[in-house]
Amino acid sequence: MTTIPTFNLLEPYRIAEETFVIPWALEAPPVGHFPMNSMAIRGAEPVLVDTGSPAVRAQWLEAAWSVVDPLDVKWVFLTHDDRDHSGNLLPVLAACPNATLLTTWFSIGRMAEEWETPINRCRFVIEGDTVDVGDRTLVAKRPPLYDNPTTRALFDTKTSVVWSVDTFATNLPAPMPEIGELTDDEFRDGQFFGGRLVSPWYTLLDAGKFRAVVDDFQRLGAEVVAGCHSPVLNGHRVDEAFDLLRRLPDVPPWQEFTQADLDRWMDAAEGSVPPEQPRPSAT
Ligand SMILES: [Fe+2]
Ligand SMILES: [Fe+2]
Repeated sequence: MTTIPTFNLLEPYRIAEETFVIPWALEAPPVGHFPMNSMAIRGAEPVLVDTGSPAVRAQWLEAAWSVVDPLDVKWVFLTHDDRDHSGNLLPVLAACPNATLLTTWFSIGRMAEEWETPINRCRFVIEGDTVDVGDRTLVAKRPPLYDNPTTRALFDTKTSVVWSVDTFATNLPAPMPEIGELTDDEFRDGQFFGGRLVSPWYTLLDAGKFRAVVDDFQRLGAEVVAGCHSPVLNGHRVDEAFDLLRRLPDVPPWQEFTQADLDRWMDAAEGSVPPEQPRPSAT
């Protein structure tokens, strides 16, 4: 297991050869924090994997360009069009004139409610497609859990890193670079919580069919798992995470927070909740 010498949000850290996570996180009271990560592969033809959240646009762009010169970026792989993944897509494409956007027909349509994606810069990548990026082949694959129909994960055949998108999402007591900092109980509870949160439709699953999907995804052979909402998984935690995923169909549904919970939190705050503030401009 690698050791991350320092860890700060929006400071990229290396997880494999020429592969970096760009970390961010959101506080999510009362369950802790959720990672909000992206990834960059600085190979012969550099790849950005997702484009971060608009809430930290300037800082995210600065972090990304600390890993790779935007003029060198050849590919932007968009896993799906949710805002935490696509939120800085247009600024990224503007800064990276030599980049091709790897996306899907449906993602472009879903983003059209807010912006027009330059279709002349797009290449469609669907489930099972491979992309030759010079010194490695990337494989697009639908992960077992997802919260958007366009979702495709990305497996790097050179480093055996998989970007699992929203699968393996977990809450954390505090932002951290690697899952190894969690206890066994925290790890299990986090995987079950994140999975149920991201994909509440898991209750509809045929457990046998779902486990076959998990097996198929595991057969990619990932040795390191990075994802938007999880610290990096490596070592024994990779197989354990897949095992927990196979158990998910047997876990009772998560009971959502209710208005009574919100009332209690507001009472506890005793008027100390500040009035709603506009966020600083994200441009
Ligand atoms: Fe999502
Ligand atoms: Fe996400």
